[in-house]
Parts: sequence; structure tokens; C-alpha cells
Amino acid sequence: MNILVTGANGQLGNEMRIVSRGLQDHYIFTDVVEMDCQETTILDITDINAICEMVKANDVNVIVNCAAYTNVDAAESNQDLAELLNAKAPENLAVAMKEANGLLVHISTDYVFGGDLYNTPCKENQKGTPTGVYGLTKLRGEQNIEKVGCNAVILRTAWLYSEFGKNFVKTMLNLIATKPQLKVVFDQVGTPTYALDLAKAIVTIIEHYKAKTFNSQFSIFNYSNEGVCSWFDFTKMIAEYTGNLNCDIQPCHSDEFPSPVKRPAYSVLDKTKVKEIYGITIPYWTDSLKICIKNLTKQ
Ligand SMILES: NC(=O)c1ccc[n+]([C@@H]2O[C@H](COP(=O)([O-])OP(=O)(O)OC[C@H]3O[C@@H](n4cnc5c(N)ncnc54)[C@H](OP(=O)(O)O)[C@@H]3O)[C@@H](O)[C@H]2O)c1
Repeated sequence: MNILVTGANGQLGNEMRIVSRGLQDHYIFTDVVEMDCQETTILDITDINAICEMVKANDVNVIVNCAAYTNVDAAESNQDLAELLNAKAPENLAVAMKEANGLLVHISTDYVFGGDLYNTPCKENQKGTPTGVYGLTKLRGEQNIEKVGCNAVILRTAWLYSEFGKNFVKTMLNLIATKPQLKVVFDQVGTPTYALDLAKAIVTIIEHYKAKTFNSQFSIFNYSNEGVCSWFDFTKMIAEYTGNLNCDIQPCHSDEFPSPVKRPAYSVLDKTKVKEIYGITIPYWTDSLKICIKNLTKQ
């Protein structure tokens, strides 16, 4: 199979590069810019002609869309760009996969929820109630893909971190090492997700597609690591795994860190569907965090 990965220079895209090593399928890694020491083919997912040409020229069977506008706060003042990247561009990819009779694996987010109050894990069929531009445009992206009608798997994930790019784990590693005291919110809970685990799940999903063991034209699945914690608990664990316990980490309320977007207070995803249909075993969040920190802190 020929598998095209978009946004390959981002967190998930880089983990896709790692998990694809040694696999038989041919992977093409694309992004808007080249990256040092990594083979990247330039592809702007807002350019439908460029996508269709690349799909045709490389006989692409699967697109994994890791590209997005991911800055949640900045999206509030960049609505047009967020709409273009998160809603219109996935539609472009869906059109290309419909023409090629291929599969689009698209990544979405827990931010499609949050407007309604709930305290049980979100199932895939829970009504989307985004609270900001990022969540709204990501929800529209899902809907646009469904309207096009290509074969599509949407994976909603949350609290993504990895060795690559900017993320909460890397920010906290730096703050824990440099600040004597830190306040972190305890009134937002969810589940951290190691992008490497998500990348492995994507490969499993593609294997099932190849083997034709699950063929639904359009399906949404949740994927995060197992377990539940607050950002405060997450930070305490990061400190523990680095062995740096000098920083005094204290819990605080969200209103101590005003933000343009109201974050979902309970962002826990129910992953029963992805586990049952694809037979995926999902690692517990602290086990994966330990691995990522080991990779980040090794000399
Ligand atoms: N990060 C999270 O906590 C989180 C949580 C839930 C869901 N998600 C979803 O998970 C997916 C992967 O997230 P991530 O954290 O890996 O994202 P990321 O690190 O921000 O990577 C996104 C990549 O897309 C690239 N890109 C931007 N515009 C593009 C364009 N026009 N054409 C092609 N590529 C373009 C970016 O390039 P530049 O950097 O040069 O702009 C970047 O390399 C996204 O769909 C995101 O919405 C993320």
C-alpha cells in the first residue's frame, strides 16, 4: 500500500515516521515545509489540486491526516486560517480519497465537546458542543469528511504529547527544572496521550483496512491513553519521573490562568469502541509517560 502522511513534521507525524520504519507499506511523509534531517515532500493540504496530483502520481491508498491548526488560543483570533486547515482541508483530502477509492484516517479532538456539563466518559455518538474556534472547526472537519462520503476513520484524541514539537510535557520539564514553585490547574481532568501510542493504533487500523476485517464507510473512534488525571496530577508525575522534586508544585483553579477559550472540564474519552473493533490494547497513561520522559531525558 502507498500511505501518505500529512503534517509529518508535527508531533504525531514524527511518531508516524518512527512506527512506519520496517513496515512493508510505502510511506510518503509530507508537510508545508521541509525539516532538517527528515525526508519530507512538500504538500499544502489547503491545495486540492496538489493533493489530487500527489495521490494520483503515487497511487496513494491511504491518507493519514496529522496536519491541523492546533493552537487553541490563537485560533480565536485566526478563525479563517483555523477554518481552512481544520474544516476545509480535511474535505480536500476526503475528495482525493473518494476519487482514488482509498481510506482517509483523520485526527480530531476532545475539544469537539465541552459546552455541555458531563461527568462520564464521552462516547463517539455524544453530541458535539465545542466551546471555541478550534473545537468548532475540528467538528466541521469531521462533518465535511462525512458529507464527501469517502472511506474514513476519524480518531478523536486528547492531551497529545511526544518527544517532538511543543507540548505540555516538554514545557513542564523545563519549568520544573527552572522554577522553585509552580501552580497547575486541578479542575480540568482528562487523559494524556503519547503520540507514539496513537501512531501504533493508526498502523493497526490500516492493517485491518488492508485485511478488510472492518469496513464501515465512515466511523468515529476515541483514542487516548488509559486512566484519568488532572493537569496537576500530570505535572506531579512528570516531576516524579524526571527525579527532580525540588520544584514545589501546587494545585490551582482554571480561573487563575485566564484564557480566550473555556477548556472542557471533563475531557475523558470512552475507548471501548476502538478496543472492541480493532483489538487494540491501550497503555496506561503513566506507563507511556515514563517511556517518553526516558526518551526526552536520555543523553
Ligand atoms: N496537540 C494536542 O494536544 C492534540 C489534542 C487533541 C487532538 N489533536 C489533533 O491531533 C492531530 C495532530 O496534532 P499534533 O499535535 O501532532 O499537531 P502539530 O504538532 O501542530 O503538527 C501539525 C503539523 O501540520 C503542519 N501544517 C500546518 N499547516 C499545514 C498545511 N497547510 N499543509 C500541511 N501541513 C500543515 C504544521 O506545520 P507548521 O508547524 O509549520 O505550521 C505541523 O507540522 C491534529 O489533528 C490535532 O488537531 C492534538
